[in-house]
Amino acid sequence: MRTLKKLIENNRNWAAKIKSVEPNFFQNLSQQQSPEYLWIGCSDSRVPANEIVGLMPGELFVHRNVANIVVHTDLNCLSVIQYAVEVLKVKHIVVCGHYGCGGVQAAFKNLKLGLIDNWLRHTQDIMQKHNNILAKISDEDSRLNRLCELNVIEQVVNVSETTIVQQAWDKGQNLSVHGWVYGLHDGFLNDLNICITNNDELPDIYRSALSTLENIKRK
Ligand code: CO
Repeated sequence: MRTLKKLIENNRNWAAKIKSVEPNFFQNLSQQQSPEYLWIGCSDSRVPANEIVGLMPGELFVHRNVANIVVHTDLNCLSVIQYAVEVLKVKHIVVCGHYGCGGVQAAFKNLKLGLIDNWLRHTQDIMQKHNNILAKISDEDSRLNRLCELNVIEQVVNVSETTIVQQAWDKGQNLSVHGWVYGLHDGFLNDLNICITNNDELPDIYRSALSTLENIKRK
């Protein structure tokens, strides 16, 4: 017996709808993919990468994990970045966090949830690193939102510092790394004013993104 019947049914309707607009859509797409963007986002079910930015299958290469964290020893994430940059030659890498992130919240509140605590330790490190910025915000929800933003900015730096992105820039490859935060409450993406296109500008843009954040006053 086929389980999850509803999902299979949804799938048939979805495929039929696309084919009614463009009969060869899947056939053409099965031959190759040439996405211009790599999306590194949170696994949260409320943040579906393609839908948010209105892109079709074939247009967005995606990696998602809890709290959109990029760790220098995570072979899974690094392999995605390497394939995207060196084989697919994407032009943009977007790290997209979101407000109300359960992972960031668990890190923030030091919740004990099990294995995942070790993963979220990376975000706790960011909390410690930017304690001076966070300590200025008295409202807890605002402080958590700020941590969601800081978490993205730090991951943009992590992506930029991978050997893969460094080598691409050394070779003169056209590649930008961006940091965005998505609002669950309004469906809008906020650009965090961090877009890095080469190694030289990394420190300045990082600093200016942090000071921009600090200038957006929170309670
Ligand atoms: Co999340």
